[in-house]
Amino acid sequence: MRIREVLALVAFSILTIAEAGNVLVCKDIKDCNTCAESYIHILGFKEDCRWCLETQSCGGPISCPIGKPVIQKDPFKCPTPYKPSAGKRYTDALGRSLFAISTAVRDSNVTACLRNVRPDISFSRSYEVECDGSGNLCKGIIAKSEEAKALYVAYKGSTAGKQVFAEMLHGLTAQLGAWEKFESQDAGVINYFHTAFYRLFIDSGMEDDLMDLMKKHKNYRIWLTGHSLGGSLASMTALHLVKKKGVDKNRVRLITFGEPRTGNIAYAKEIEENVPFRYRVIKRGDPVPNMPAPLNPAVLTAAQYNRQAMHYRYLVHYDNNMGKGDVFNVCSVADDLGCRNTALSNLADHTSYFQIDQDDFVRNHCPRHELI
Ligand SMILES: *[C@@H]1O[C@H](CO)[C@@H](O)[C@H](O)[C@H]1NC(C)=O
Repeated sequence: MRIREVLALVAFSILTIAEAGNVLVCKDIKDCNTCAESYIHILGFKEDCRWCLETQSCGGPISCPIGKPVIQKDPFKCPTPYKPSAGKRYTDALGRSLFAISTAVRDSNVTACLRNVRPDISFSRSYEVECDGSGNLCKGIIAKSEEAKALYVAYKGSTAGKQVFAEMLHGLTAQLGAWEKFESQDAGVINYFHTAFYRLFIDSGMEDDLMDLMKKHKNYRIWLTGHSLGGSLASMTALHLVKKKGVDKNRVRLITFGEPRTGNIAYAKEIEENVPFRYRVIKRGDPVPNMPAPLNPAVLTAAQYNRQAMHYRYLVHYDNNMGKGDVFNVCSVADDLGCRNTALSNLADHTSYFQIDQDDFVRNHCPRHELI
């Protein structure tokens, strides 16, 4: 071997050794985190190691039965056990109570609805703006309960009818890749949500009013909630309050219903870091939380991967009709894949949570016995 070839070989070996995560075989790795950070070289091509959730094992490109959830490229997707401290647990009663408030936003007379379903709420104010270029309206409310020592911000995503709504979802899916930076260097949210958030929360005066109320009630918790696109606005508000307004993260409580994938993986990480109390409630066949759908990470470059839409923990999954007394499961992985059957799809499961048809419910100004 000539000296130049030897030197090249040495340089190549050093480079290879210096690359973090390069292993000889994936299958010897015994934990998800290490597996997701590792890769092998096959015939000179870099191949991620993949953690198969079902078999709890690490492997190469065909490590997992086809169609089963696989974790690769980023340990963020690995299971993180759900261990809430006292008083931070999700309960069905809590979900119903917050759902009542997020439904009240749909009532043309919010006060009348809240008076029935949450009589402890003593103050509320509504905000409504055109939130996109097509004349759809977005609405939010701020409410206060002295009894619960709580302020509430609740959103309804859009006034669009079901047809328009379905079209909008297709639009969102097509927007995959159309991100707007949000509250950090890498975090991005779908353009549509970004525009809606700025028009509704910032420009309509909602933020200023909320900050005033928070100053007057320094020990009150701030609950953020919303259904569907309203859930996206709620999660963005939570991150905005903690990162941009210096709100103590332990005051913030986030519970959303049928929230789509709002942002990219960096957004999901920011939410987990900055909002310790956070639940995404999802009903069995609701298709909206699977939008925009992620692509198979195996076919993505690192840059494309970072732009993929991604959920944050904790998914509260009702694998049933959400009747009174029905059970739920809190999932340990960030995204829904692997926690619920995302192939089930029934738009009725999106519009009706806790067996409440929201339109009927507000038509009768929110009769409490139907929900709680
Ligand atoms: C809204 O409902 C409240 C309580 O039922 C009632 O006092 C008020 O007049 C209603 N407002 C409007 C605009 O209808």
